[in-house]
Parts: sequence; C-alpha cells; structure tokens
Amino acid sequence: MLTRITPDHPVRSSEITSETQYESRRQFLAEAGLIGLGVAGMALAARNAGAQTPQQGTSIGGAELKPELTPWDDVTSYNNFYEFGTHKSDPAEHATRFRTKPWTVKVEGLVSKPGSYSLEDFIKPHKLEERIYRHRCVEAWSMVIPWLGFPMADFIKSVQPLGSAKYVEFTTLLDPQQMPGQRSPVLDWPYVEGLRLDEAMNPLTIFAVGVYGKMLPNQNGAPLRHVIPWKYGFKSCKSIVKIRFTEGMPKTAWSVANPSEYGFFANVNPTVDHPRWSQAKERRIGEFRRRDTLMFNGYAQQVASMYSGMDLRRNY
Ligand code: MTE
Repeated sequence: MLTRITPDHPVRSSEITSETQYESRRQFLAEAGLIGLGVAGMALAARNAGAQTPQQGTSIGGAELKPELTPWDDVTSYNNFYEFGTHKSDPAEHATRFRTKPWTVKVEGLVSKPGSYSLEDFIKPHKLEERIYRHRCVEAWSMVIPWLGFPMADFIKSVQPLGSAKYVEFTTLLDPQQMPGQRSPVLDWPYVEGLRLDEAMNPLTIFAVGVYGKMLPNQNGAPLRHVIPWKYGFKSCKSIVKIRFTEGMPKTAWSVANPSEYGFFANVNPTVDHPRWSQAKERRIGEFRRRDTLMFNGYAQQVASMYSGMDLRRNY
C-alpha cells in the first residue's frame, strides 16, 4: 500500500473568473431539437466546437486548465458506458442509433415537487455555462473536459427536497433493446449512482447536457448526465431518466457489483489505492508520462470540508 502524500493543489481563486461562455444556448437547444428545429443528432458530434461564436459570460472553474483540454476526438472515442460494451471504443461504435428524443426525467421520493419532465422542461429554467473540469477515471487515466451544463443545486432547490432527504439517487435508462450491454450481466442493470445531498448541492456539481459547446454525444451520456469533478468518473451517471431523493444511502451499481473495490464516496484520493492498483498517479489521455494524482482531483479547497472527521480510508 502506498502511503506517499502528494501535495494538494487547490483551485486558485483566479479560476473563479469571467470565462468564455458558449452563449449559444438557443443554438444549443435548437441543435438538441429542444425548440423544434429538428434533429441534429450525431452528425453534430463530428463538427468542431470552434464553429460556434463564444461570447463573454460567467463560468466557474478551470480557466487555467484550458491549455490542457483533451481533444474532442479523445473525449468522444475513449469512453466507459458499459450499456454499449466494455471496450473503450464500444460506446462510440454502438451508441450511434441510441434514441434520446423524446426523453423524460422523473423526479421522485422525498421531495415537495415530484414530477415527470420532458428534457426540454428539465433544462429550460437553467442557464447553461461551461465548466472545464479534470476528469479522473478510477482506472487511473484522466482527461480535461469542457462540459456544458448547469449547477445541480439550482435544480435541487427548484424541486424542494423534504427535510428527511439525505441522498440523491440517479438512474440510467434501462432498455436492453437499444443498449446491448444490458443483455449481459456485467452489472445489475440499470446503472445507479448516488450522492449525499450536500455533495449534490456543492457548487462544483453539475448536470451536463453538452461538451465542447455541443450537445452531448450519445457515448458521453446523452442527453443528460451529471459530473462531480472531485470523484472518480464512475460516480457520474450517464443518460439519466430518474432522480430520487432518499433518506438512506442509495445502493449504487458498482458498490453492489464489487463493494470491496468501489465504495459509495469514490473521492479521488492518491493516498488510498484501489485494491488492485495504485491511485497515486494517472495517465492523461494523449500523454505518455504519468502525472501525480491530486487530492480530491485538485478540488480540495472547495470540497474537503464536506469530509472533515471522516476516515477516507474506510469511506473510499
Ligand atoms: N454511466 C453509465 N450509465 N454506464 C457506465 O458504464 N461509466 C462510468 C461513468 N458513467 C458509466 C457511466 C465511468 S467508469 C466513467 S469513467 C465515466 O462514465 C466515463 O465518462 P466518459 O465516457 O464521458 O469519459
């Protein structure tokens, strides 16, 4: 077991800054077919983000990461989405005809305003912004990705969780006809993930509906996923159809499949190894060298206080 502690690299205040925002919300919604201008579909994915005209806006996080952005081709061709196969190239290959329209998101459980939303209604009240985040997979590879989304806290406030709600559970679509991976017992389908309510409300936690200023390609979790940048990538549930507020800790797909290897918290922690490999270093996709992994993936300043007093070795 490695005990080396890598220095913390908190996000600097300069990171919370006025940053380029893709003000193309209308265009984005149009592309997504959300304002009735037709289906752009996967053809969009091939187009370069530079085709859009960025305008000034406010965005939180990641200005200094811009030079490190992982290219579009890698972000959209090296994926984990076991519903479409277990090889990294499977999702891009097998999700091309995945239907994301119409799409309904159900909100259930301990909440004052449960409901069933079309994707359009789910997104409409929120202002989309760009978030450039480090993305660290539990398999010790990483990327830097410019997500397009909105704070999960805004959504949570709007549906008014009851005082008894302590956790939020997210569920991916179950549709073995469209998702060939669900015909094999790789996981106990559907894919389920969960967050403690304070984690879900943290300003860094977002729902993502796009990447590189474009609607999410299917392989990245279209049409709706969430992103929690200080946690290993498996915490971010793709193609979400259900959000449930609960009192008890949700049973998540990976912790059910292999509880000794995948815990509920899954905070990026270079000092706590996966039972079968070290988490001290990572390989950024596109690079040969291995980088030091940062505590909480570099977001300790914003998130460490949520875990004060907790034994992170036990709560992996
Ligand atoms: N969500 C679903 N529904 N199915 C999956 O297999 N894989 C997870 C996560 N969300 C997964 C999922 C894992 S292990 C990672 S690392 C990230 O998605 C990968 O996201 P990306 O392909 O956009 O990089």
